[in-house]
Amino acid sequence: MATITHVFLWFSSIIILNLVHTLAQSHNYIIHMDASAMPKAFSTQHAWHLSTLSSALDSAETSNHNNLDTAYSKLIYTYTNAMNGFSANLSPKEYEALKISPGYVSSTLDLPTKLDTTHSPGFLGLNPSTGAWPAAKFGEDVIVGLVDSGLWPESESFRDEGMSGVPSRWKGQCESSIKCNNKLIGARFFKKGFSSQHAQLFTIVNSTRDTEGHGTHTSSTAVGSQVENASFFGYANGSAKGVASKARLAMYKVVWNDRIYTSDAIAAIDTAISDGVDVLSLSLGFDDATLSNDPVAIATFAAMDRGIFVATSAGNAGPGRGTVHNGIPWVTNVAAGTLDREYHGTLTLANGVNISGLSLYLGNLSANQVPIVFMGSCDDFAKLGNARSKIVVCEDMSGNIDNLASTIDFANVSAAVFISNVTDLTFFLHRSFAGIVINPRNGEILKAYLKSNSDAKASMSFKITALGITPAPSVDVYSSRGPSHSCPFVLKPDITAPGTSILAAWPQNLPVAQTLHNSFNLLTGTSMATPHVAGVGALLKGAHPDWSPAAIRSAIMTTSDIFDNTKNLIRDIGEGEKPASPLAMGAGHINPNKALDPGLVYDVGAQDYVNLLCAMNFTQENIKAITRSSSYNCSKPSLDLNYPSFIAFFNDSSKESTLTWEFVRTVTYFGEGQTSYTASITPIKGFNVSIIPNKLVFKEKNEKQSYKLRIEGPKIEGFGYITWTDVKHVVRSPIVVTNQASSK
Ligand SMILES: *[C@@H]1O[C@H](CO)[C@@H](O)[C@H](O)[C@H]1NC(C)=O
Ligand SMILES: *[C@@H]1O[C@H](CO)[C@@H](O)[C@H](O)[C@H]1NC(C)=O
Ligand SMILES: *[C@@H]1O[C@H](CO)[C@@H](O)[C@H](O)[C@H]1NC(C)=O
Ligand SMILES: *[C@@H]1O[C@H](CO)[C@@H](O)[C@H](O)[C@H]1NC(C)=O
Ligand SMILES: *[C@@H]1O[C@H](CO)[C@@H](O)[C@H](O)[C@H]1NC(C)=O
Ligand SMILES: *[C@@H]1O[C@H](CO)[C@@H](O)[C@H](O)[C@H]1NC(C)=O
Ligand SMILES: *[C@@H]1O[C@H](CO)[C@@H](O)[C@H](O)[C@H]1NC(C)=O
Ligand SMILES: *[C@@H]1O[C@H](CO)[C@@H](O)[C@H](O)[C@H]1NC(C)=O
Ligand SMILES: *[C@@H]1O[C@H](CO)[C@@H](O)[C@H](O)[C@H]1NC(C)=O
Ligand SMILES: *[C@@H]1O[C@H](CO)[C@@H](O)[C@H](O)[C@H]1NC(C)=O
Ligand SMILES: *[C@@H]1O[C@H](CO)[C@@H](O)[C@H](O)[C@H]1NC(C)=O
Repeated sequence: MATITHVFLWFSSIIILNLVHTLAQSHNYIIHMDASAMPKAFSTQHAWHLSTLSSALDSAETSNHNNLDTAYSKLIYTYTNAMNGFSANLSPKEYEALKISPGYVSSTLDLPTKLDTTHSPGFLGLNPSTGAWPAAKFGEDVIVGLVDSGLWPESESFRDEGMSGVPSRWKGQCESSIKCNNKLIGARFFKKGFSSQHAQLFTIVNSTRDTEGHGTHTSSTAVGSQVENASFFGYANGSAKGVASKARLAMYKVVWNDRIYTSDAIAAIDTAISDGVDVLSLSLGFDDATLSNDPVAIATFAAMDRGIFVATSAGNAGPGRGTVHNGIPWVTNVAAGTLDREYHGTLTLANGVNISGLSLYLGNLSANQVPIVFMGSCDDFAKLGNARSKIVVCEDMSGNIDNLASTIDFANVSAAVFISNVTDLTFFLHRSFAGIVINPRNGEILKAYLKSNSDAKASMSFKITALGITPAPSVDVYSSRGPSHSCPFVLKPDITAPGTSILAAWPQNLPVAQTLHNSFNLLTGTSMATPHVAGVGALLKGAHPDWSPAAIRSAIMTTSDIFDNTKNLIRDIGEGEKPASPLAMGAGHINPNKALDPGLVYDVGAQDYVNLLCAMNFTQENIKAITRSSSYNCSKPSLDLNYPSFIAFFNDSSKESTLTWEFVRTVTYFGEGQTSYTASITPIKGFNVSIIPNKLVFKEKNEKQSYKLRIEGPKIEGFGYITWTDVKHVVRSPIVVTNQASSK
């Protein structure tokens, strides 16, 4: 007995010492392995990875008993689809030992990131009787996967009325806490990477159920079934419907406590690929990652290789240049714009004049006339305290309406009017006073009335949804801008879709504002724009099952709109309403019906992307980490990817005063019968732009023709378009000339 106790104590002290040692220094890594180096003796990659890990532990001599057991506890995931390799928790010594294992390619740290936080189908021109919806049967044969925060399965948006059985090719499943149906056909969660770094948070549920609300919102935007009488406390009322309302949905939950780990995100995409999704929607991204250590870039290369269309968010770090993430050549990167819809409140002055402004006030204020007073920048707390039952008017001098709102709330003022040009109304959700934001022009009218009436009075009314707002769409302030850090040679973002104040489903158990609950919520971000594009991708896949991901992207880009509903160029709210540069909106605003029939397509295959990586001077290890395979080579390096957009860089400090850029592109004819296309150019001010040849004749479907674009000009920024037209089609590509420094 004594001996055993002694041995036990001796053992446990070693284990504790080891634990302390490991906890102090160990890290989680993503390790790329060369699958072709796997000895034949192993039946699965999993067994090989375990054995590799076990040998590394052995030679690092950090473990004292059965190394296979220890290896098992240190292995987080094995990956065989999204990449070849695994993730594991390793001490520095173990990591060094692993790096000299046979088959080791490269590795990166397992790092965290965050999410990029219904009227919209109508705004996109979708119509039940013509165009993309009927052509694609609303996406019925298409499976859309989302990597997000889970979902609320009881939401009406995930009902399956009238839907046929689950496609037989589907290999996915639903974990036991979620009841699936013919709409929701996959539900899985990926938590091991998070758990191994946050052991103290063991109470977090083992479920795909949405704990943040984000995933319920994004998935219903992409594929939600039609729900009648949806609204947000009276705002945005109407029927809510996803873009591809009959497509199937698979949710892969990776968000835990607001955080997403690389190891979990790769595992989710790995599973989605083997389950058989057709489209992936990723409203998340890793900032400052190079292509070879960006988990989204790595995992989506494999997805692209399997014909999966991937939509990713540009990020919400705009309007600064070079803020875009997911600037990955093989995905579709989505910027966010406004809808032609606003939520209003009306201030009715005692003289009968109505002033309308933005509001998301959710309460039930009575519409009585009360005194209204101007209080400048509303920083005099004593004065505010004496105006609790009045309407207080504040001027937003700093652009920080959140501060103003919190002052008003803290002073217990019951009603306020803000004179401001902000459009983000999320502050209403945390405040209880009745408020309206009026623009500076209307602010002058109000101030003039207050000045000339000592007995000024007004009433307020709310919950007005204004449609047909002009101009719309516009690129919104927060949407991240190109060029892409990780690959400046390809213009990003690719496309703009609705992202501002989007109404979509929400979990019943999560409050939408303070203590208020609702089955729909209004959210804003490129996170909301991305599932719109995933939904359109599903419609195109439904209508054209043989199109490659690059063909779908090309069709979406070259048929998009560059004019708003006032017939002017789409504006950029983040650049003082100037015409939006392609660095902000990509090719334009998505137009799904036109994308159905693009005429010409810029197609790209896996080897073309590899040629780009080669020209970017990536090492063979880095390229292999992305491609998972040695079957690609660098015999034809080229920075000129066959893409439906153009970006030309100049170097401010170079000696030449004029520069010349040349691009060669190949288009594939996707129409029927003979036709000829003629090129035209929307000039870039100060530049000579030419296309050789400027006429392309096609005799039959799938024929390819090439042309050269030549740009000559000074070292200044500019943008324009080239457009190929035949009798039926308009195929437009944006061109940007910008300086190299701005990509930093
Ligand atoms: C979740 O599953 C893991 C592994 O099976 C288990 O260790 C953990 O206790 C579970 N957590 C909860 C909250 O049930
Ligand atoms: C929607 O609301 C209208 C008007 O209140 C009502 O007539 C209709 O039955 C509702 N539809 C559904 C599906 O609840
Ligand atoms: C939304 O509600 C308003 C006011 O109740 C009503 O006039 C309008 O028709 C509704 N809109 C839709 C699309 O149901
Ligand atoms: C102001 O709005 C109220 C309520 O909607 C309406 O009755 C009134 O006619 C409007 N006044 C003017 C001058 O438009
Ligand atoms: C406002 O009134 C409506 C209808 O009476 C009610 O359903 C709603 O809960 C009220 N809203 C608030 C915030 O009290
Ligand atoms: C505002 O009201 C709250 C709750 O009634 C009270 O606790 C607080 O002191 C008030 N604030 C001011 C500045 O009077
Ligand atoms: C917003 O309003 C402020 C203050 O009136 C002004 O300085 C600023 O230029 C405006 N911004 C835009 C984008 O119009
Ligand atoms: C790659 O390396 C070559 C040769 O050193 C160099 O000329 C070229 O500019 C590099 N390309 C990039 C994109 O850095
Ligand atoms: C590179 O790949 C191409 C296409 O697969 C092949 O034709 C060529 O022989 C390869 N070159 C080398 C040097 O391996
Ligand atoms: C720009 O040109 C200068 C001077 O020729 C050179 O030193 C610098 O490396 C160039 N920068 C880039 C990014 O190519
Ligand atoms: C454009 O072409 C014309 C005619 O060849 C030439 O005179 C002019 O200098 C060129 N401009 C630029 C900016 O290269």
